[in-house]
Amino acid sequence: MLTLTKPGIEEYALSKTEKQSNLLKQLMAETHASMEYPQMLTGPVEGHLLKLMVLTSKAKTVLEIGTFTGYSALSMAQALPRGGKLYTMDLNPVSLAVARRYFDLSEDGSKIEVVEGDALTNLKKLDGPFDLVFIDADKGNYKNYYEAVLPKVPSGGIILVDNVLWSGAVLDPKTEDDKAIAAFNDHVAQDSRVEKVLLTVRDGVYFIRKI
Ligand SMILES: C[S@@+](CC[C@H](N)C(=O)[O-])C[C@H]1O[C@@H](n2cnc3c(N)ncnc32)[C@H](O)[C@@H]1O
Repeated sequence: MLTLTKPGIEEYALSKTEKQSNLLKQLMAETHASMEYPQMLTGPVEGHLLKLMVLTSKAKTVLEIGTFTGYSALSMAQALPRGGKLYTMDLNPVSLAVARRYFDLSEDGSKIEVVEGDALTNLKKLDGPFDLVFIDADKGNYKNYYEAVLPKVPSGGIILVDNVLWSGAVLDPKTEDDKAIAAFNDHVAQDSRVEKVLLTVRDGVYFIRKI
């Protein structure tokens, strides 16, 4: 099969993408210096894709599942209008402490509300509607998150899901996480309630629009 990407293509994509803000650059550097799994951070190319998705969809209320140190939340908050709101969920107090510090430093931080604790539990307490949802937490719950948020997304609303290629493991799933993501992708692919395209950006982003 024809392989479309070559070594160096990620760096090339980055060089042709809008530059990240100094604050996001600092956040990325601190995450790499201090956190155990810094690769969980979405980074500049995907972060900018998220920002443009919020901007072009004119979303006013965004829900993120999986804050980590706050890179994707801050990227999306930049694109929200005044009065817009982004709820971001995570259960890790250590990474949330970093995220909250950067939210406080940002002029867009006041648009962000951190919802600390188990996301599935907390989702029951948030009614929505959410114009755009970004799912990027524990992979075993992807299908649960999707089914919990879909009724809270209006027709025309967007759901973005990260890591749906799982470094290619979806082609030959072995671990529980591999199988959960592959099953989630199968679930979305056959779901007639939504229109979708699986983007091969970074580790794969499912771009889903509710019909
Ligand atoms: C891939 S990271 C999120 C990265 C983030 N979106 C970014 O771009 O920097 C996944 C996060 O999901 C969180 N998480 C895992 N299980 C969770 C759960 N049951 N409820 C809430 N958050 C959870 C982890 O603590 C981790 O910070």
